[in-house]
Amino acid sequence: MAKFIGKPVDRVDGRLKVTGQAKYAAEYTHKNMAYAFPVLSKIASGEVAAIDAAEAEKAPGVLTVLTHKNALRLQPIDVDQSIKTGSLLGELLLPLQDTKIFYANQYIACIVAETYEQARYAALLVKVKYKETKPAIDLEKEPKVDSTSPRAKQVIVGTPVEAFNSAPVKIEQVYKVATENHHPMEPHSLIAAWEGEKLTVYNATQGVHSSRHLLAQTFNVPKENVRVIASFIGGAFGTKAMFWATEPLAGMAARVTKRPVKIVLTRPMMQHCTGNRGATRQSVYLGATRDGKLVSRRHITETCVARLDDRRTEYLELAGGNTSSTYACPNIEITHKVALLNVNSPTPMRAPGEAPGLFALESAMDELAFELKIDPVQLRLINYGEANPINKLPYSSKHLKECYEQGAAKFGWSLRKSEPRQTRDGEWLVGYGMATALYPGYRSPSAARVRVNSDGTVSVQTAAHDLGTGTYTIVAQTAAEFLGVPVNKIKVALADTDLPQSTLAGGSRTAATVIPNIQAACEALRKKLFELATKNNSSVFSGKNIADVELRDGGLFLKSDTNKGETFETILKAAKIDSVEECVTVNPEGQKSNEPCFVSEIPAEQNADTKKWDFHSFGAQFVEVGVNEQIGIVRVRRVLSYHDCGRIMNKKTARSQAFGGVIFGIGMALTEESHYDPRSARFVTRNLADYHVPVNADVPEIEVYFTNQPDYKNNPLGARGVGEIVATGVAPAIANAIFNATGKRIREAPITPDKFL
Ligand code: MOS
Repeated sequence: MAKFIGKPVDRVDGRLKVTGQAKYAAEYTHKNMAYAFPVLSKIASGEVAAIDAAEAEKAPGVLTVLTHKNALRLQPIDVDQSIKTGSLLGELLLPLQDTKIFYANQYIACIVAETYEQARYAALLVKVKYKETKPAIDLEKEPKVDSTSPRAKQVIVGTPVEAFNSAPVKIEQVYKVATENHHPMEPHSLIAAWEGEKLTVYNATQGVHSSRHLLAQTFNVPKENVRVIASFIGGAFGTKAMFWATEPLAGMAARVTKRPVKIVLTRPMMQHCTGNRGATRQSVYLGATRDGKLVSRRHITETCVARLDDRRTEYLELAGGNTSSTYACPNIEITHKVALLNVNSPTPMRAPGEAPGLFALESAMDELAFELKIDPVQLRLINYGEANPINKLPYSSKHLKECYEQGAAKFGWSLRKSEPRQTRDGEWLVGYGMATALYPGYRSPSAARVRVNSDGTVSVQTAAHDLGTGTYTIVAQTAAEFLGVPVNKIKVALADTDLPQSTLAGGSRTAATVIPNIQAACEALRKKLFELATKNNSSVFSGKNIADVELRDGGLFLKSDTNKGETFETILKAAKIDSVEECVTVNPEGQKSNEPCFVSEIPAEQNADTKKWDFHSFGAQFVEVGVNEQIGIVRVRRVLSYHDCGRIMNKKTARSQAFGGVIFGIGMALTEESHYDPRSARFVTRNLADYHVPVNADVPEIEVYFTNQPDYKNNPLGARGVGEIVATGVAPAIANAIFNATGKRIREAPITPDKFL
């Protein structure tokens, strides 16, 4: 029985956070620090024709004004090499390298000054003349082309068009999801400091190694010369996974002024300069038999990418991508087309692809259920699949039936009226809706170091990240479990390129990646401690072997005789050393890594075989809404979220992640939308007053359940990620509940009051 894993252990970093001692990137100070503030382009397409910085240069406190004329020449990013090393690229646009402008609010100059206020003031004094060309901004009107992304390659299984055309029952609809922005509490911020040829950066990033790799490239220094630290992150949701121009801009400002330089983006800048979830227009075709079996599914997405000269690494919202594995279906088409728009590059945003994709697919499934007069849960059970319908691989572990059946029972789904407009509560029409949730179960290579000190404390080090999600806590729990020491003896260090390399925090992969890695390191350390102990002839372990001992109560003990053992202190003292450590690499795909911090090879039994199994997490989400038709307001009254995400490492942090995900989904369904001004191609929603993130008053009671079924084919501890799947089924469940309440099918998210008119 696990002693620590799975338990609702309090966050080990909780006290640091609530007392303000957890330091975020912008909270570090350096002696002699200067402040940078970028100047943004007022046009969305064209060129800087002339730039006059004379007045800004003379303003109080200004150290320098960087423009394309005097900026450091940065080395262009080597795309192939960066992809090989797992760095996440998006827009290949380094700051101030020429006069070209691809989107509104692109950086065109940067003030560096003694104080933040001086830099911000001087930024107003830079005079710019533009040569403007008409920006492309309208997703509907611009021509659609193929994306350069290999992920966007069309998928055809069987004969989807023919099968649709001959299907007895057809649903053919267009669904739209608006552009969204991430808006984490912590703004994008960094402090860059050069010492000679060495660069240290405190950076609000989801990937310290990725950031290091790209900074080293752009400044043409060996990557060992760059250190990136991101110990605490105040939310990220994908926007801090990409390498934005802010990073080299800070490095450049520091290099030129020979001062440590801090950049903190304003909230309007975060809306403009650090990506967004690209809008999607999705055509869904479902063909089915009269008894509800899907015979064809076509999902054709139109979305946008940044209109850059260099499109080699473009990012698009892959709405049809993984939603393909939701149901068994013999004929499938997945197509993505893109419009090249003068907007800042779209970027991953919590469940990129799956969240808007399931809004479309799961709304369409509800339409099909209504058409067929089959209960929506029943329709999903009729089309339940045991293998991915595209690659035909069986799922590594799928307990979605439990989510549907138990979720429905706990929610009281049987009370739902199948005809709309049947339930009233005062002025509110009340309805129930549900949807399937789905997200891949990714896992990546990772290295970790575990050290036992003679005072009984343990250090665990790995350059994975905690975005506010609980990584510190589950790492401590895992080390506690396998070393047999209490959680409060474990000191965890994360997100620093000086530590063993681990994964970028994206794709909900951190738990499945890091946890087995910590386990493997603890196992290696157990062997090492045993070897150390048995070197001593008077050891109680003389004549025993490794299988006879276990780690517990701060030492190594015989399994057969619970009283016989030696504490870490005794073992280390006898060996005349202060500490003992192991650094272990776990590589799920079994490839050899050339990274020096990937220090050893993974044991064969720890391979997640992606050629044999399809790794996905699943869930069912149920909601009750009230709709006031007079004023078009929707209130979410109840949410029940039931997920199959492998073994849950910590009941408390996983539950909190589910709360966050459900709230994210409520935002997509009802409130979140970034509007461009069609004339200027600039966002008009630039702050949290214009861009509506759900607040407490928008959020009802949320009930959360997990199947807690370990997925040992994914990794030896059976965990899969939680952070993204919990957001994926919420928006369609709300749209479906609105239909059940009102009889109105609204196919555009967010479902704002105007759409009821
Ligand atoms: Mo997440 S959107 O995979 O950073």
